[in-house]
Amino acid sequence: MSEVRRERWNTRLGFILAAVGSAVGLGNIWRFPYLTAEYGGAAFVVVYIFMLFLIGMPVMVAEFILGRSAKKSPVQALSQPGENNWSGLGYLFVLTGLGILSYYSVIAGWALRYSLESLRGYLLNVSPGDYFAEIHSGFDALLYHFVFIAITTGIVLGGVKKGIERAVKILIPLLVALIIGLGIWAFFQAGAYEGYSFYLQPDLEAMFETYTLNLFGMSVSFPFLALGLLGAAGGQTFFTLSLGMGAMITYASYLPGNDDLMKKTIIVSFYDVGIALLSGLMIFPIIFSFGLESEIAESPLGTLFMAIPEAFSQVENPYWGGFLSFVFFFCLLLAALTSAVSLLEVVTSSLMDELNMKRQPAAAAGGFACLLAGVPAALSLGWLDVADQIAGSFLLLLGGFFLAIYVGWLMKGTLDELTHGLEWNLVVAPWHFLIRYIVPVALLALLTNFVWDFSLQLWEWLGGL
Ligand code: TRP
Repeated sequence: MSEVRRERWNTRLGFILAAVGSAVGLGNIWRFPYLTAEYGGAAFVVVYIFMLFLIGMPVMVAEFILGRSAKKSPVQALSQPGENNWSGLGYLFVLTGLGILSYYSVIAGWALRYSLESLRGYLLNVSPGDYFAEIHSGFDALLYHFVFIAITTGIVLGGVKKGIERAVKILIPLLVALIIGLGIWAFFQAGAYEGYSFYLQPDLEAMFETYTLNLFGMSVSFPFLALGLLGAAGGQTFFTLSLGMGAMITYASYLPGNDDLMKKTIIVSFYDVGIALLSGLMIFPIIFSFGLESEIAESPLGTLFMAIPEAFSQVENPYWGGFLSFVFFFCLLLAALTSAVSLLEVVTSSLMDELNMKRQPAAAAGGFACLLAGVPAALSLGWLDVADQIAGSFLLLLGGFFLAIYVGWLMKGTLDELTHGLEWNLVVAPWHFLIRYIVPVALLALLTNFVWDFSLQLWEWLGGL
C-alpha cells in the first residue's frame, strides 16, 4: 500500500525547496527575534549559532539518512524488520507534531488577521502594543486558527508536492526581498545603532545568571550559565531546522538514492539561518528606533507583531504602508503554511501507515485533532507560551536525543547510506563522532537543564518553600 503512495521529488530542486519550505517559517521570523529579545540579544544569537553547527546539522544528516534508507514514514522507518523496534519514538514524533501545530496555527492565524487588517489600513492607526494585546487570544484568535488549519489540511489532502514546490519557489525570494528592503529602511532610522548593538554585541552578563535557592530559611546564591538561555537556544536550533519530529525523515524518504546528503544539509541550514539572521537585522533597529522595548518586554511573543506595523505606519502614503504591510504578513503566512504542511504531513503519513487509512481521512483526522488541540493556545497567551516551551523545545530535543542514539548506535548500514552520492568523504568520520558522542551528551545536558530550569520556575511560582 505504501508503495503506491511513495512519491518522488520531481527534481533535485524540488526536495531542497520543500525542505527549505519546512525549515523557513515562523521559527525564523517570529520565534528567533522573540527569543533573542527575551534572552538578552547577542548572547542568545551566539549560543544558537554554536548549537546549530554542533548538534543541529549532524541531526539533520541523521534524519536524512534514516528517511532515505527506510523510504517509510517515521513510525515504520523506526520499526523495520530485522532492526530494533523503536516505533515508540515515531509516536513521540506524531505527538510532538500535533503539539507544535496546535499553537503554530494560532500564530499563523495572527499573521492572517494582520494581513487582512493591513488591507483595510486599520493596523496603521493603532498602537501596536494595545492592538496585539487585544487580538492575541479569544474568540477571534480561535476563528483564525480554524481557518489556518483548514487551509493546511486542504493542501495535505490534495497533492502536497506541487503545492509546496510551486509556492516556495516564489515565496521565499519575495519574503527575503521584503526583509532586506525593510532592513535597509530600518538602517536609516534614528535608533538603529542601539538595535544593532543589542542584537550583535554579546553581553556576557546575559549569559550568566545568579541563582538563589531558599533552603529551609537559608538562602544560597551562586552564578551559573543562564539555563533558560541554553535550553531556548537548543530548542530553537531544532525548531527552526524542523528537526526532532520526523519531518526531515519523511521528506528524505521521497529522495532517490544517489544525492549528497551532506550538501543538502548545508544548503537547507544556510538558507534557514540566513533568513533568521536577516530578520533580526530588520527587527531590532525598528524596535529601538520606535521605543517599543517596554511593550515587547511585556509580551515578548508579540515582538514581530508590534515591530512591523510600527514600521509600516511610518510610511508617508498610508496606502503604500497598508499594501506593504499586507505583502509582508501574507508572505509570512505562506511561509508558515509550507512549514505547517510538513508538520501535518508527518501526522497524516503515520496515520495512513499505522491505521491503514487513506490519505483523505487521515489528513482530515489529523487536521481535526489540531483544531481541537489548538483551542487552549487560542484562548490564552500563557498556555501558548508553555506549549511552545514543551512541544517546541523540550519534546524536539527529546526526539533528537533518541534519534541520535538510534542512527548513531543501533541502525545498520548508516555509514554506507551516508556515503552514497557523497562528494566529500572526509566529513564522514567527524559526523559519526558527533552523532555518537557529542550530540547525545549535549542533548542530555540540555534536557536535564530544561527539567531543572522548569523546576526552578515552578519553585519560584510556588513561592519557594
Ligand atoms: N521549522 C519551522 C519553522 O521554523 C517549523 C517546523 C516545521 C517544524 N516542521 C517542523 C519544527 C518540524 C519542528 C519540527 O517555522
